[in-house]
Amino acid sequence: MTKYFKTPEGGTREVLRETDFTVEPGAFTAVIGPTGCGKSTTLSMICGTERPTTGEVFVDGRHVDGIGENVGFVFQNDAVFPWKTVLGNVAAGPRFRGMARKDAQAEAAEWVRRVGLSGFERYHPAQLSGGMRKRVALAQTLINRPRVLLMDEPFAGLDVQTRQIMSDELLTLWELTRPTVVFVTHDLEEAIALADKVVVMTAGPATVKEEFVIDLPRPRRVREIRHEQEFVKLHERIWESLRDEVHAAYDRSMSVA
Ligand SMILES: Nc1ncnc2c1ncn2[C@@H]1O[C@H](COP(=O)(O)OP(=O)(O)OP(=O)(O)O)[C@@H](O)[C@H]1O
Ligand SMILES: [Mg+2]
Repeated sequence: MTKYFKTPEGGTREVLRETDFTVEPGAFTAVIGPTGCGKSTTLSMICGTERPTTGEVFVDGRHVDGIGENVGFVFQNDAVFPWKTVLGNVAAGPRFRGMARKDAQAEAAEWVRRVGLSGFERYHPAQLSGGMRKRVALAQTLINRPRVLLMDEPFAGLDVQTRQIMSDELLTLWELTRPTVVFVTHDLEEAIALADKVVVMTAGPATVKEEFVIDLPRPRRVREIRHEQEFVKLHERIWESLRDEVHAAYDRSMSVA
């Protein structure tokens, strides 16, 4: 597919150029590329909030046309309802689909436990830490059991330790329902530790530069796996591919500045 956006100057700008990749059902795919290359744009096309200028996106063999059912989205910034409690936030999806309050709350309580927030059911988002809010956002999305889970740098802004804990938790939760995951990140270590496949994008206009299969054994613990020889080798190979794109994007931003 390709995607052109209108620029504020009244022109058009090519953001995606013949971007083409396939995500296997139930697999965890990480997409990595330099800042501004078009990763979020790619996700919004899979989600159905944006349409490609040319080409098509298919989810489960069906052409994406508008916001898909069974598609969950976890954004970079926490998209929780500030006025609802933790339990209310997590119960929001089932309630929206018409589930009785009591049943929705019982199910939400179970997910609150799974993301390690038992005891915080009645707290509001402002009373939580950043990492806790991400957990709420995760539970809020996972309770809907999406078949496809799109994540756009969901752990950005968290410290390294919290990121690692959240990554392990995400993998455990993913094993429970096995949605198809597309996970966008800047962090190559995070991408390798989590994914079955890493897709490297070029500096904009984004096109798929290379794909790497990550056949590290599961279950994985992201902190430990980084020291394994196989991981280090993969990291070197993928960085080889990514490095030029990161530098190209940087040089371009400096020349514009
Ligand atoms: N709605 C829009 N209208 C016009 N241009 C847009 C729009 N959305 C994104 N762009 C442009 O598309 C390009 C890619 O943006 P995108 O958000 O997809 O990048 P990204 O790879 O997710 O970057 P980052 O890693 O920094 O999040 C940018 O140059 C941006 O200015
Ligand atoms: Mg982005």
